[in-house]
Amino acid sequence: MALLEGKVAVVTGAGRGIGREEALLMAKQGAKVVVNDLGGHFDGTGQSRSPAEDVVKEIRAAGGEAVANFESVSDFKSAKRIIECAIDNFGKLSIVVNNAGILRDRMIFNMSEEDFDAVLAVHLKGTFNLARHASSYWREQHKNGNLLNGRLINTSSDSGLLGNAGQANYGTAKAAVATFAIIVDREMARYGVTANAIAPVARTRLTIDATPQTAATMPTPKTGEVDKFSPAHVAPLVAWLGSDDAKDVHGEVFRVGLGTVWLMKGWHSAAKVTQSGPLKFWDPAELGAKIKEQLASGVTKKEGLADVLTGRV
Ligand SMILES: NC(=O)c1ccc[n+]([C@@H]2O[C@H](COP(=O)([O-])OP(=O)(O)OC[C@H]3O[C@@H](n4cnc5c(N)ncnc54)[C@H](O)[C@@H]3O)[C@@H](O)[C@H]2O)c1
Repeated sequence: MALLEGKVAVVTGAGRGIGREEALLMAKQGAKVVVNDLGGHFDGTGQSRSPAEDVVKEIRAAGGEAVANFESVSDFKSAKRIIECAIDNFGKLSIVVNNAGILRDRMIFNMSEEDFDAVLAVHLKGTFNLARHASSYWREQHKNGNLLNGRLINTSSDSGLLGNAGQANYGTAKAAVATFAIIVDREMARYGVTANAIAPVARTRLTIDATPQTAATMPTPKTGEVDKFSPAHVAPLVAWLGSDDAKDVHGEVFRVGLGTVWLMKGWHSAAKVTQSGPLKFWDPAELGAKIKEQLASGVTKKEGLADVLTGRV
């Protein structure tokens, strides 16, 4: 039996790039798929039906089942209709992949309010919107004795996990969607749901058109070689996380791409300075001296996307 037989998945932003590969693979693995895509430019302007329609055609041509949806994830009511699209067409909803994304890179001193708001609206609000409607549905179904093993997979980024200059809007949203998965998992585990996040690395429109300096570090393969930077390397992890087999994976964040999956670990207690004797208020200079003496060794070298692309991590 295929891994996702009997499952119904929504993949947002599935008309291109990583989402397209996720939708194609999930359909190949037996899931019925809602291919959502607004079909706009990489900065979020414009719209077109053809990216989502083309992916649906591709899935159907391969013998799979899919429907297209062209709504924006950033609108709360539209997001509800994306969830309803799955239930109306395929009778239920099992998996939500929050993948839709745009970029509007600017240094902080040049970033307009609109560039900040537009990026947060798609990545952060969009992720909340889909998760909110799916979670109330999964909870309701669970109360009625219908165990759907709901799966939420958010798309974060190295920019959010490690920080990247020029992306104060995008990185902030991507850090938030990773934490959001951890929180939703803690709330929804009792209803049989898991929530996790991925940080993909792939050559797509977002790298080629929006961050050409990153795309330049991703060479195209020689004839006959598997493309190291293909977005198809991301999809297998997402398909597996969507399956019943991944029931014990809760609130994790994975970097994925280049044929590798990294388990990422975020904020945690690394070292401390503390007092001995009766508790007192620190003298700030005394505290600073202790921090320099006792915590300096806990300050690690900062990891960046360049370390991933050159294989250093
Ligand atoms: N490519 C990478 O290396 C990389 C790295 C880290 C994170 N990501 C994330 O992966 C996800 C997919 O990006 P990609 O690289 O495949 O880019 P992409 O531009 O090829 O695909 C993103 C898709 O999302 C759609 N979309 C945008 N706004 C939407 C909205 N409001 N509602 C519905 N659909 C919308 C676009 O039309 C587009 O088809 C994004 O969340 C991106 O931030 C990508």
